[in-house]
Amino acid sequence: MPLIHRVLPPTPPATLEDYRATGGGKGLQAALATDADTVIAEIEASGLRGRGGAGFPTGQKWRAVAANRSSELTTTVVVNGAEGEPGTFKDRTILRTNPHAVVEGALIAASTVGATQVVFGLKHTFAPELARLRAAVDDARAAGWADGIEVIVFEGPEEYLYGEETALLEAVDGRMPFPRIAPPFRRGVTEVVEGDADLWSRSGLSAHVEMAAPDAGIIAPPTLVNNVETLANVPAVVARGAAWFRSEGTDESPGTIVCTVTGSTVRAGVGEIAMGTPLRDVIELVGGGVRPGHRVKAVATGVSNAVLSEEQIDTPVSYEAMAAIGSGLGSAGFVVFDDEVDMVAVAAGASRFLAVESCGQCRPCKQDGLAIADLLAGICRSEAGEHDLDLVHERLQFVADGARCFLAYQQQNVIGSILDRFGTEVEAHVSGGAAPVEPALVSELVDVEGDVAVLNEDHVRKQPDWTYDEEYSGQAPADRDAEHRAAS
Ligand SMILES: Cc1cc2nc3c(=O)[nH]c(=O)nc-3n(C[C@H](O)[C@H](O)[C@H](O)COP(=O)(O)O)c2cc1C
Ligand code: SF4
Repeated sequence: MPLIHRVLPPTPPATLEDYRATGGGKGLQAALATDADTVIAEIEASGLRGRGGAGFPTGQKWRAVAANRSSELTTTVVVNGAEGEPGTFKDRTILRTNPHAVVEGALIAASTVGATQVVFGLKHTFAPELARLRAAVDDARAAGWADGIEVIVFEGPEEYLYGEETALLEAVDGRMPFPRIAPPFRRGVTEVVEGDADLWSRSGLSAHVEMAAPDAGIIAPPTLVNNVETLANVPAVVARGAAWFRSEGTDESPGTIVCTVTGSTVRAGVGEIAMGTPLRDVIELVGGGVRPGHRVKAVATGVSNAVLSEEQIDTPVSYEAMAAIGSGLGSAGFVVFDDEVDMVAVAAGASRFLAVESCGQCRPCKQDGLAIADLLAGICRSEAGEHDLDLVHERLQFVADGARCFLAYQQQNVIGSILDRFGTEVEAHVSGGAAPVEPALVSELVDVEGDVAVLNEDHVRKQPDWTYDEEYSGQAPADRDAEHRAAS
């Protein structure tokens, strides 16, 4: 099975002319020549599912946003380019190699849902992607593609939570990237409270508990949030039709997906494959297979879902097949662990990453998360016993209590699955039968250079209060923010 080139072109178009020469622009042209309902029906028929991690049907989301259009306030399309899932580098690769497709997809979305504003949310650290994207936006403006649409490129914070869609909207609104409770089509960017347009910004309610409702005095413009890869797929769906899109992939997961493969492989890589391709083949195609002389022991799909064991490596890469084995596809970032990797060290590293990145609006997520990370660090250093392992299990039961976003469940999924599937290794550490090891570095990728994955090594210094101070203040980011607001 070969690599496919739909959103990752074999030769990246350097200019708008190059992009046009390969059919670029035809999707927008077709969308503008027809009505919104027809475009949405085509997207629905294609079965395109959001590539940000949850696999939500894109057509269904567009229909909901279009139906909730406000006569008074602007609808906004927000492009989620915040990519920070450990083991994932696909959106940044698309932005580097095919930015015009992302811009075209976003403009098609805007014209379809009636948006007059498009916001691209990237991280301020994504220098090459910001440059490529800005050039593509300029090209689109010069070609008249963006007429009547304000396009903004927003440089957001480095935090993992910034990729969570409601946190991204908070950041765009000028606040900390803390998740909200309401879905974004109910609570869009630049919320307005009747009679006091600035109340939200001054209220300190950075992740407001109140739901958007006209009778609560809140007018919330609908906002469509889609992932970079989702939107990069849109132009071809509109130009070539749903049947063409479905000519690759499975019934429930049509099309292709851009995978990142890192870890114990011959090389690190990013490549586009047909949905439904067995994971073993993806590891071979994109990563050159496991290191010679070793076998795959486990594969993580980022830090969101249950870790796969060796027996599950032939699972097809699709939403339904990954769900059927109790895991998830996430953003198709596959981290491969071979027989030399200590899975308890991986659990400790993943737990630490999630606990540090937790914002602390929900106490169990932060406090139990940090406690789990500490306990696991002790276990992998072989300094802890059976009682500590019992405590990890106990804390895992409560860590997601009252959680307003998925991050707390990620602790349960990832750590729970490692404890469950690699119990013998865990037992060896608690009984003193395993060599002590340090927690593994689990952090976001800063680059995939050549064949090498570069992880953010600074993350080990990041404190749970999101500073890089020598000492942890003991405060959660949400508490620091509240204190800061109260003082100012
Ligand atoms: C902790 C967390 C981090 C996330 N990070 C990203 C991200 O970096 N990029 C992204 O597109 N979606 C991310 N998501 C998913 C988004 O919340 C959202 O589902 C997605 O942007 C919707 O777009 P889609 O429907 O096109 O997939 C994250 C979710 C969570 C809970
Ligand atoms: S679940 Fe965790 S990361 Fe999500 S909002 Fe609550 S404290 Fe923050």
